[in-house]
Amino acid sequence: MIQVAIMGFGVVGSGVAKIIEENAALLKTRLGEEVNVKYILDIRDFTGHAMAGRVVRDFAVIEHDPDVKVVVEAMGGVHPAYDYSLKAIRAHKSVVTSNKELVSLHGRELLVEAKKAGVRYLFEASVGGGIPIIRPLSDCLAANKISSVTGIMNGTTNYILTQMKENGTPFADALSDAQARGFAERDPSADIDGKDTCRKLSILADIAFGYQVDPNEIYCEGIRNISPRDISDATEAGYCIKLLGHARVDEEGITPIVAPFLLANTHILSGVSGVFNGIGVVGNMVGETMFYGHGAGSAPTASAMVGDIIEACEVSSSPVLWEEKAPEGYIKDVTTCPFARYLRVKGTRADSLTTLAECAVRAVSHEDETAFFLPPMTDDEFAVILKMIPELTVTSSIRIFTPGEFVPKNG
Ligand code: HSE
Repeated sequence: MIQVAIMGFGVVGSGVAKIIEENAALLKTRLGEEVNVKYILDIRDFTGHAMAGRVVRDFAVIEHDPDVKVVVEAMGGVHPAYDYSLKAIRAHKSVVTSNKELVSLHGRELLVEAKKAGVRYLFEASVGGGIPIIRPLSDCLAANKISSVTGIMNGTTNYILTQMKENGTPFADALSDAQARGFAERDPSADIDGKDTCRKLSILADIAFGYQVDPNEIYCEGIRNISPRDISDATEAGYCIKLLGHARVDEEGITPIVAPFLLANTHILSGVSGVFNGIGVVGNMVGETMFYGHGAGSAPTASAMVGDIIEACEVSSSPVLWEEKAPEGYIKDVTTCPFARYLRVKGTRADSLTTLAECAVRAVSHEDETAFFLPPMTDDEFAVILKMIPELTVTSSIRIFTPGEFVPKNG
């Protein structure tokens, strides 16, 4: 059994415990052993919680228990998180963290200590919440000279800017909403004023360019002064406003900046809305890459941390392996999935295409053809409709990808 201790049982720490419990069978398959939360270090006692009996107040209990293999640091802040992480590493325990402030300031030192102790210091959750970006950058893109990293790296501010733009929500209300959803930092000024993005950009720049970039030396502007008028003027001109972290390197050095920017609606990052983050990395061999996903919140952040727990444990066999044959019916027939469709046919709407017009959500008339946007239906249902119209000439039929609707009917 792999024994884990969680330091800090807030939004992220409790999310890690939840994944360990809910995905216990999956973790056992991946690791060949069960994962167990042996201790929770917190100043609160969580009376009535199923894990209340595992709460300890003294870090030394964890430090001196040789059974604890991985320590999950979800405390936030630099002290005592730094001191405990260092002690845990020196006690030959791997440490997994979401703490960008600590990693951006002391990551290098803790990595060196971990190497000395023969354990791991892993921080996938420190940038981009649930988005895999640290290992892709340090491992998968290792063959590249990275020339820039650019991203929306703070879910709270992106949520606020999106709410302001799409719903006209006042800044303060959007912030309270983000806090209630567990996106914001304990002190949300770190989000609003861009400090959180500076820390994340600093970590990415350290890895991408190979030098420690001090987060406190990054040029930084937050979104506190963005007004509804800024947003409406930008919108009218074909832009959105995003808080970006950007760092590029040339022969002369690294240029990092964190600030709100007007971003053309044609830029791929303009489509990154709400709590989502998007991070683009440019490498001299791979070209442009983009990483996208939930940038904050309990489950996405904990997902990255549990991934790091798995990485920290020695796997007994290759984790990349699958069964030879799926159980009967396990691989479903995609034609039973309803899809919305774009259908273009010969003739105009006046040519009695009423059956299609009646069920379409939108129709576009061309000179000699008519296009219909049809609601989700299965292949069979679609065939029935087509059969009802004699002498129909289909010139185009394309499924519309709507992820939420990608569900087998009756399945
Ligand atoms: N407060 C951070 C955010 C949490 O909103 O992105 C994830 O790092």
